[in-house]
Amino acid sequence: MSALAGARVVLGVTGGIAAYKAIEVSRRLVDAGAHVVPVLSEGAERFVGRVTFDALASEKVQTSLWDETSPIPHTRLGQTADCIVVAPATARLLADYRMARSDDLLTATLIATRAPVVVCPAMHTEMWENAGVQDNIDVLRDRGVTIVDPEPGRLAGGDIGHGRLAAPATIVAHIERALTTPDLAGLHVLITAGGTKEAIDPVRVISNRSTGKQGYALAEAAFARGATVTLVSTVDREAPAGVEVVAVESAAEMQDAVMARQSADIVIMAAAVADFRPVDPPDQKIKKTGGAVPEIVLEKTHDFLVDLGHQKRPGQTIVGFAAETSDVVDNARGKLERKQLDCIVANDVSAPETGFAHDTNAVTLVFADGSTRAVALSPKRVIADAIFDGIVQLRATPTPSA
Ligand code: CTP
Repeated sequence: MSALAGARVVLGVTGGIAAYKAIEVSRRLVDAGAHVVPVLSEGAERFVGRVTFDALASEKVQTSLWDETSPIPHTRLGQTADCIVVAPATARLLADYRMARSDDLLTATLIATRAPVVVCPAMHTEMWENAGVQDNIDVLRDRGVTIVDPEPGRLAGGDIGHGRLAAPATIVAHIERALTTPDLAGLHVLITAGGTKEAIDPVRVISNRSTGKQGYALAEAAFARGATVTLVSTVDREAPAGVEVVAVESAAEMQDAVMARQSADIVIMAAAVADFRPVDPPDQKIKKTGGAVPEIVLEKTHDFLVDLGHQKRPGQTIVGFAAETSDVVDNARGKLERKQLDCIVANDVSAPETGFAHDTNAVTLVFADGSTRAVALSPKRVIADAIFDGIVQLRATPTPSA
């Protein structure tokens, strides 16, 4: 389950044109089960109405140090929060927070907390690039504050440049990461996703029914758990927040992308890689004029998961997937042994609601020591976290010396 569910998140909003995006951040947090406490600076109220936050967040907006009856409200919010996020954060907020200057409820809350803090700056490019602002960012980062960098794009007044508030989905992914036990911190996780496409000619391909949903869910989970994540994907889909995506199409391209990053600490081959491809596809489209129906001759692709398994370095974890329609666990175990994997995720793609294109899955994790762990029908993100639970446990278990 996402760490956002049940978390108490103070959402600080300061005065910038991007303040309207904080409404979307609030909505996404509430949808994920978080309890959102909105705190607006005086400046923020010039850009967004408190009524909107009152309606969409979990509590009424608070702004002042003086509008509560309790004698210590300025520390209470910070003490009870599981996470504090400021989106957008102005240059002034960064300076105040860096200096630990508390002159309103939001800055007082930031100073009076031990909870993780996520700061999402947004400002004009010139301000963002100012040495003083960058210095404040560096200091806050060094103190352990998560800074969600602004993105390039259109700014207030029509300027184009760096300084636009990060997308709400990105901000929420960083809040989730701040709330999650970082059991993959310091690790590089390489994941493949989607079905490969093998060219018949320049316009036609042979592919399979994989949509990449399980691979993307794995990438999201790995980022939340603190990893550096690379996703080698055949799928045309928005990159998960914080994840480097390498776009590929064919099995050969996927092989090149994966083998170039073979040093990753954990490799999970969730992609449905073609086993066969057309031999020597022509450069020109095959025309139907002439009458003859073309014959497509196939050749085997190279199974590079075998290479990964056989070239495994100490401390590395290699995980495969086995999409099966019968004798699921036995077939998967055979592949695990042949490919010398640490774990294989056995997937009965013929069962209802599981496998290709579904939002849910049911799998059995098969480990090299012969043990298995069944994960019942669940959303693919829950399956992804169960896979990482298994991997983390496996990595914590000392391997018997040969
Ligand atoms: N795989 C790979 N390269 C290939 C084919 C498969 O790296 N050319 C990987 C897949 O990403 C998956 C695992 O091998 O993690 C098992 O793939 P699967 O197609 O289920 O098994 P195969 O070994 O190809 O056996 P079969 O298709 O006969 O069931």
